[in-house]
Amino acid sequence: MPTPATLDALLVEERVFRPAPATVIEANVKPADLAEAYRLAEADPLAFWEKAALELEWHRKWDAVLDASNAPFHRWFPGARGNIVHNALDRHVHIWTKNKLALIWEGEAGDCRKFTYFELYREVNRLACALRALGVSRGDRVCLYLPPIPETVVAMLAAAKVGAVHVFVFAGYSAKFLRERLSDSRAKVLVTADGFYRGGRCINLKAVVDEALDGVAGDAAETVVVVRRTGADIDMREPRDLYYHDLLRQESPEAATEIMEAGDPLFWLPTSGTTGRPKSIVHGHGGYMVGAHHTFRTVFDIKPTDIHFCTADPGWITGHTYGVFGPLLTGASVFLYEGHPLYPQADRLPSIIERYGATIFYTTPTLIRMLMRYGPQYPKKRDLSTLRLLGSVGETLSPEAWMWFYKHIGRSNCPVLDTWWQTETGMAMLSPMPISVLKPGSVGKALPGVAAAVVDGQGHSVPPGQGGFLVLKTPWPGMLTGLAGDEAGYKEAYWDKIPGVYFAGDVARRDEDGYFWIQGRADDVLNIAGHRLGTAEIEAALCAHRFVAEAAVIGVPDKIKGEVAKAFVVADPAWVSALPDADALASQLREHVRRELGPIAVIRAVELRQSLPRTRSGKILRRVLKAEELGEPVPPLSGEEA
Ligand code: PRX
Repeated sequence: MPTPATLDALLVEERVFRPAPATVIEANVKPADLAEAYRLAEADPLAFWEKAALELEWHRKWDAVLDASNAPFHRWFPGARGNIVHNALDRHVHIWTKNKLALIWEGEAGDCRKFTYFELYREVNRLACALRALGVSRGDRVCLYLPPIPETVVAMLAAAKVGAVHVFVFAGYSAKFLRERLSDSRAKVLVTADGFYRGGRCINLKAVVDEALDGVAGDAAETVVVVRRTGADIDMREPRDLYYHDLLRQESPEAATEIMEAGDPLFWLPTSGTTGRPKSIVHGHGGYMVGAHHTFRTVFDIKPTDIHFCTADPGWITGHTYGVFGPLLTGASVFLYEGHPLYPQADRLPSIIERYGATIFYTTPTLIRMLMRYGPQYPKKRDLSTLRLLGSVGETLSPEAWMWFYKHIGRSNCPVLDTWWQTETGMAMLSPMPISVLKPGSVGKALPGVAAAVVDGQGHSVPPGQGGFLVLKTPWPGMLTGLAGDEAGYKEAYWDKIPGVYFAGDVARRDEDGYFWIQGRADDVLNIAGHRLGTAEIEAALCAHRFVAEAAVIGVPDKIKGEVAKAFVVADPAWVSALPDADALASQLREHVRRELGPIAVIRAVELRQSLPRTRSGKILRRVLKAEELGEPVPPLSGEEA
C-alpha cells in the first residue's frame, strides 16, 4: 500500500478513496474478517470454499470439496446433492423471508408487479408442474427466449426445480441465432412472450420465434409456452403454442424439487468466442450456487432491508448471478426493469432508485456513459439518498466515468465496486469490497479464494505495472463446468493457451498494491456496450451476404458503447449493377448483420477494399487494419505472419 504521506496526496488528488467510517462499521465483512478470509483462502483454499458451501443447505454433503483428478474438468463438491432452487426459494417459505418481497418489477409504461418469496414460490411451483405435465424431466433442456419480465425469473427457477437445464437466449438475439440454439440444445420446450416494451415501442417477440421455428431441427421446441405480456395479436399455432396463463390455471402451487448432483447442469448461456460460432457456457447447480451466494453476500454486502437494482437483463450472466440467483440465495429483494434505460427521458433510472428506494445500483459503463452524456441535472432532480453501494461490470470503467458515477449517482457517499468477471467465471473474481480503499479505473484485488495473476505468453508472472495476460491459477466454485457438447473446445479455449492456468482472454496489469487494471481483450472478441461479439461471427454473417466475397471486422472506439465494429469488405462485383452506390451497399450489409445476429451487432462503418491484408497462411491481419484505422504505426509482422 502507499505510505501514509503518498496516500494523503492521492486522496487529495482523488486518485484513491478511503471507505466512510459508517460503511466499515456496518459492513458484513469488516477489515479483520477480510484479512482472516485472505489468510484462510491462502493457507487452505478448499477449506475456505467449504466454509462458504456450509452457509447453504444441502440434501447430501460432498465427499470432497474439489475433485481435480481429471483437470481441467474440475468437479466441485462431488457427491453432494441438492438443488439451487431449494436455497433460492423453497427454504424461504419456512423462515421470516416468506413474506418479504423477492421481486419488484416495473414495466416500461410504469406498471408494477411485486412478488413475495411465498408468491414467487407458488408461481414457480405452478410452472414446474406444467413443465412436468409437458414431459420435461431431469436433464431435459428448456429454452428461454424472454424479455425482462417476472415470468422470466419464474421460468429460470421452474426449469431448475424440475431438474431441467435452461438454455437462455437473450431476447435481442435474432431468429437465426435462436434457431441454432434450439437445434443445438434440442430443447423440448421453449418459453417466450408475445412481446415487450422498449423505447416506447411494442416489440413482437413471437414473430421472431415463429421465424426461428421454421426450419428448426426435428424434435426441438415441440411446445412453445407464450407469456402474454403485451396482449398483442399474435399467431398461435395449435397444438404447438400454449399460453402460459392457460397452462398454469389448473396447476398446483406445490411441486417437489428434484434432487440434483452438485455437478448437474443448471443452465447454458451462449457467448461469443473467437470462432465463427457462439459457444454455450455450462454452469452447474452446486459450485455455481456457492460462488453466487458467497460473492453476493460479501461483495454486495447485502442487508435485510436492501433493494438491489441490477440493470442487467436476466438473459446475460450478470442477470443470472446478481439479478436472480445471488439475491434470492441470500433472501434479498431484487428490482427488475423491463424497458429502455432512457425512456421516456434520461432520469428513468434515477427515478426508479428514488421511487423504490433502491439501496444498491449495479450497472454497466455504457449506461454510466449514457447518463453522463445527458448531464448531472437528471440525477440531481431525484432523491438518491437511499443508495449505499454502486457497482459496475462488463467493460472498463474509466477514472472519469468512475468519478461521475461516484459524484452524481452516489453523491460522493457510496463505494463504487468495479467488478471483473465473465460468463465463464459465473461469479465476481476481481473486485473491491465496500470496505476497500478504492482506486478509480481499477477493478481492485482478487477476491479471497481467487488466484489471479498477470503473466507473459509462457505463464511467467510479469512485474507490477507491466501488462500481460490475465489468468486464474486455481479453480473456483462458480467456474463453468464446460462448453455444451465441446470438451475439446473447453480445454483449447481456456486451458491450453498457457498450460496449467485458466486463460481469461483479457490483458491487464497489476500494480504494487495488488490492484488489477483491465486493459481490454487479448483476442478477436469485441465488447460492444458490454456484450461480447467475436469478429469471426460478424465476418461469417457478412460473408453469408451475396455481395460479399471477403470480410474482416475490427473494433473501433465509441464514446458511449465503448467499442463498435467496423467492417472491411471485398465486394462481389455483382453489387454494382444491383445497387445505386456504395452507401446503399453499406446500409444493406449493416441491416443484414443486424438481422443475422441481432441488434447488439452494431456496425458503424463498412469500407470497401480491393483485397485484405493476410498472413502467408491466409489468416486475416486484423491488427494491421486496426493500426491503419487508428492512425497508429503498423506493427511489424511476426515470423509466422510474414
Ligand atoms: O473483457 C472482460 C470484460 O467482459 C468480458 C466478459 O464478458 P461476459 O462474459 O459477457 O461477462 C460480462 C459480465 C460479467 C471480460 O473478459 N469485463 C467484464 N468485467 C469487466 C470487464 N472489463 C473491464 N472491467 C470490468 N469490470
